[in-house]
Amino acid sequence: METYGCQMNVNDSEVILRIMQDAGYALTDDIGQASVILANTCSIRDNAEQRIWGRIEQFRLHKRRRQGIVIGIVGCMAERLKDRLLESHTVDLVAGPDTYRRLPEMIRAITPDHPQIDVLLSRDETYADISPVRMDRNGVSAFISIMRGCNNACSYCVVPYTRGAERSRDPQSILREAHELADNGYREITLLGQNVDSYLWRDADGEVDFAGLLEMAAGVSPDVRIRFSTSHPKDISDAVIGTMAAHDNICRHIHLPVQSGSNAMLEKMRRKYTREWYLERVEKIRSVMPGCGISTDIIAGFCGETEQDHRDTLDLMEKVGFDSAFMFQYSERPGTLAARNYPDDVPPDVKTARLNEIIALQNRLSLESNRKDVGKRFRVLIDGISKRNGDEFCGRTSSNKVCVFSAPGYGIGDYAEVEVVSCTSATLLSELARD
Ligand code: 5AD
Ligand code: SF4
Repeated sequence: METYGCQMNVNDSEVILRIMQDAGYALTDDIGQASVILANTCSIRDNAEQRIWGRIEQFRLHKRRRQGIVIGIVGCMAERLKDRLLESHTVDLVAGPDTYRRLPEMIRAITPDHPQIDVLLSRDETYADISPVRMDRNGVSAFISIMRGCNNACSYCVVPYTRGAERSRDPQSILREAHELADNGYREITLLGQNVDSYLWRDADGEVDFAGLLEMAAGVSPDVRIRFSTSHPKDISDAVIGTMAAHDNICRHIHLPVQSGSNAMLEKMRRKYTREWYLERVEKIRSVMPGCGISTDIIAGFCGETEQDHRDTLDLMEKVGFDSAFMFQYSERPGTLAARNYPDDVPPDVKTARLNEIIALQNRLSLESNRKDVGKRFRVLIDGISKRNGDEFCGRTSSNKVCVFSAPGYGIGDYAEVEVVSCTSATLLSELARD
């Protein structure tokens, strides 16, 4: 089992693993031992797909060496490319994001002349009753998918085509999973969806929106922190911000992808907000929760982006002072509104130069944001050992910043009170706080 792409995909792999285990399969780390190789794929940007094509080439070698092994491509790229994947004559199985329940049955039906494909999208599949097999190894933080698909039509984005229409999952099944995690010692749960703010469940008992769900999740245990991702600037409500503020165990961090700081680009991207709207939302978040971390996604070089549009993005970044960001060059995705309507006309070297400028600015902003935390105290959940120094722990603040510190007598999964001593743009170097 290999996973590419976003956290949503990682969580899907955990669902697939439960389905496969229930059918009698076991996970192996050694691809040389595998009788079934499944790659859970991502289509969000072209380079993600290119990587997977390269990997399929390598699978071909395994197949030559060992007759009878099954090669399956599942997830977004399966959904997008469908039977084109079978033309490689390496792939035996193609399954889209809504057909994972059928994997064991499809695998059984494969013969050398009959590869299997199912890329039907569903309006109601949420895998609500399937408990994911946790593949994260720290046993401290886990993810719960609260919804699938996306009903927005951002013009650059392939997700609505690969993952289908938005559907929310029954809150009771989400809570059951959260309690199960808490009982198993997990201390941090991230609620996942393409657009969590539009979460909505209706049944005979009434309605639960995202603010309601957050409130319920916060009630699972005072020792379990709740995070969520991704918020949409057009939908994040005062009720959600208020619920965050009302609960200490809801982390003070919002991932709020802006994509661009130019109104012309936002319009063309069909994001349905303006830079002024975005800045107002940021102001609201900070007025209710001073110190709340805000991170973002930015796309450089979208169709028709002028130098001025790019300057507007840099200007917005400065105004907000993001704590961190994921930054990408625009890559045209076949079949999207942008691919159909707008030429991908920013030359590659200009895209690269703009992306580099955005990255350089974000590095400075991250450093400035971290410097403001030097001397402050934070409650940190220890989630691992520092990569640089095996004697030190790492963990995150509520605002999602990484702290490293030495804490004799503490262990992974403990909360520690730390004081920040110095920083880099990526890390708060800390020590245990003295009373
Ligand atoms: N090109 C570049 N970046 C993209 N993203 C989504 N689609 C594209 C694309 N075609 C980015 C957006 C989104 C993140 C998950 O990936 O910034 O928020
Ligand atoms: Fe794509 Fe927009 Fe949906 Fe995010 S909100 S998955 S960018 S269409």
